[in-house]
Formats: sequence, structure tokens, C-alpha cells
Amino acid sequence: MKARIAVLGGDGIGPEVVAEGLRCLRAVAKSFGHEIAMTELPFGGVAIDSHGDPLPSETLQGCLQADAVLLGAIGGPKWSAPNAKVRPEQGLLKLRKELGVYANLRPVKVQPALVNAATLKPEILEGVDLVFVRELTGGIYFGEKRRDAHSATDVCTYTVPEIERITRVAARLAQQRRRKLTSIDKSNVLETSRLWREVCERVMRAEFPDVTLEHILVDAAAMHLIRRPRDFDVLVTENMFGDILTDEASMLAGSLGLSPSASLGEDKRGVYEPIHGSAPDIAGKGIANPVGTILSVAMLLRHSLGLNAEAEALESAVTRAIENGARTPDIAAQGTRAFSTREVGDAVLAQLSAAP
Ligand code: IPM
Ligand code: MG
Repeated sequence: MKARIAVLGGDGIGPEVVAEGLRCLRAVAKSFGHEIAMTELPFGGVAIDSHGDPLPSETLQGCLQADAVLLGAIGGPKWSAPNAKVRPEQGLLKLRKELGVYANLRPVKVQPALVNAATLKPEILEGVDLVFVRELTGGIYFGEKRRDAHSATDVCTYTVPEIERITRVAARLAQQRRRKLTSIDKSNVLETSRLWREVCERVMRAEFPDVTLEHILVDAAAMHLIRRPRDFDVLVTENMFGDILTDEASMLAGSLGLSPSASLGEDKRGVYEPIHGSAPDIAGKGIANPVGTILSVAMLLRHSLGLNAEAEALESAVTRAIENGARTPDIAAQGTRAFSTREVGDAVLAQLSAAP
């Protein structure tokens, strides 16, 4: 097949991890006979520097014309002064909104080889396999913002159709998995959460009677995620709760650097990015973990290009590379030499070409 990918490396470690993702994408395309054109475009803080805009119109156009977007990370101290007029994050939010990618899938699967790399006890982590479906284009991220000398306001709004569609995405995913959906809200306090719970309940009863639904308050969810993570299958939640809980959940797998994500809308086009940030403290050192980005490439192959065998080949190459010790410092076993970003990429490529 032929496909066009827009590549947005962004800031900090973004370009380093994306480079490894692209090498893997090229290798998969080559061995399965696909023609994938990749266009690199300015985005984030570097685009503020070059264009005065974190999402220049050429970048947005390039993304709209592509079959999928692969993104690294954005942001950094250079662009985050409290009085900054324009911020890299605004570009990311605008990109998500303009592409209509309202459903952010963030899977967390504990690799047996890494069960001792995590901060939690192995017996809690063995067999953890869950997916967050984070609502991505609504809620407090996109509400009106106001500021005067004495106060600041961020408005949180959710509409019924926004809740219906995200519930459906999560429920369909649950149908392909263990048929369990956990909806997370704060309905004891927030009106948006009371609406969320009502709408979710109604959609599930009418359309997905085969999926078991439970509701958990967000504070309790934060606790249960580290107490009994194996019990969860698909979890659906609003934008900000999802942002917070997915950083927490990524630590079940051992490191924030391992977690991929796919942001999807009504058509096949999606935005694929590791869930970590630009990590300015380690940028340029060649030690960032590229696995979150490489696994995001696998999600891109699966969800936007419909290439399931290719996605699985890449995922299993990552698993084998990790089993063979390809670990950056964030997950390196004690007393072993840590791999560089590039060496982890090399190890995955070696496994790809070794595959039958
Ligand atoms: C994420 C990030 C972003 C978010 C930031 C960079 C705006 O934390 O993708 O999780 O909050 O959505
Ligand atoms: Mg986040």
C-alpha cells in the first residue's frame, strides 16, 4: 500500500525518539512492501522560534493531507515563562481539535521481562493489560479561560454527544477485549461528571448490554490503579482525569517512556505519540527511551493503515529486544549497562529482520 505520514518531531527528546520510530517504520514498510512517504514539519517550541506559531499553517495542512501523524513531544523551559504569549502546548491542543481526534487510546501492558523494573511489587503487576480511553478534545482543556488581577477561571464543559461518542469508542474496544468498562468521574462534586455518568450509563444499557460497566470516582481510581491494576480492562474518562491517570498507569509498565498512544476521530486518520513529554533535562544526551514512540508507530500501522500483521511484527520485535536487554537508563536492570536511544532502535531493527 501507499501512505503519507506527517512527522512532527517537536522539542526536547521528541526528535530523538521520533528518529527511532521512523527507522522502524521504514524497516517494516520495506519488508512488507509498502511505500510510505514521510514529511517532517515544524511543530511546538521550535515552530514558535521559526514561525512565531507552534502549529504553523503549513504544518496543519500537511497533517490534514496525511494518512497519519507521528509526533514526538513539545514544550520546554524556553517557552514556558508564566507570561508567555504563545505556548507550544497550544499547538498540540489545536492540532487535536482541528483533526477531530477526540479519542485517545493509551494502552498499558506489563512486559514480563520488565516486571522487576517497575516501582511496584511484581505480584501486583503480573498480567496487567489495560487501555485508557481518554476524551481528548473537550473538558477543561478547551473551556473559556479568564484572568484578572484577583482571580483566574477555567471552564469545564461536556456535551451529551461528546460523552456518547467517547463511550462508544471505549465500549467497542471492550467488546474486542475482556468486555469490562470502567468509567471514571467525579460525580460526587462535578456537574459535568454527573452528566458523564448518566450518558455513559444510558449508552451502555441501550447499545452494549454485553459489556460490564462500573463507575469509579477519580480519587478512588488513582488508588485502585496501583492496588489492583489487573482488574481493569478498558477505562474511559474525561480529558484532564485521563491526562493525570495515564501518567500514573504508565508506571505499572515500568516507565513513562514505554507508553504509546493513538488519538482517533471519525475517520482513519490519527495522531500517534508517546505519552511522555519533551524531557528537557535529558534532551540531546541520547538516552531517552524510544519504545513509547516505536509502539506508537505500531498503533499507527494498525489503526490508520489497517496493517495488523505489520503492527504485530513491530510489537513483538520490541518485546524480544527488551527481553534481550535493550533497555535505556529508565528501565535498565541494576548492574547492567544501559542502552542508548539509538541502540534500542538498533536492537528492535535487528529483531525485525530476524523475524521469520
Ligand atoms: C499529554 C500531555 C499534554 C496534555 C500536554 C503537553 C498539553 O501531557 O499528551 O498527556 O496534557 O494532553
Ligand atoms: Mg500528559
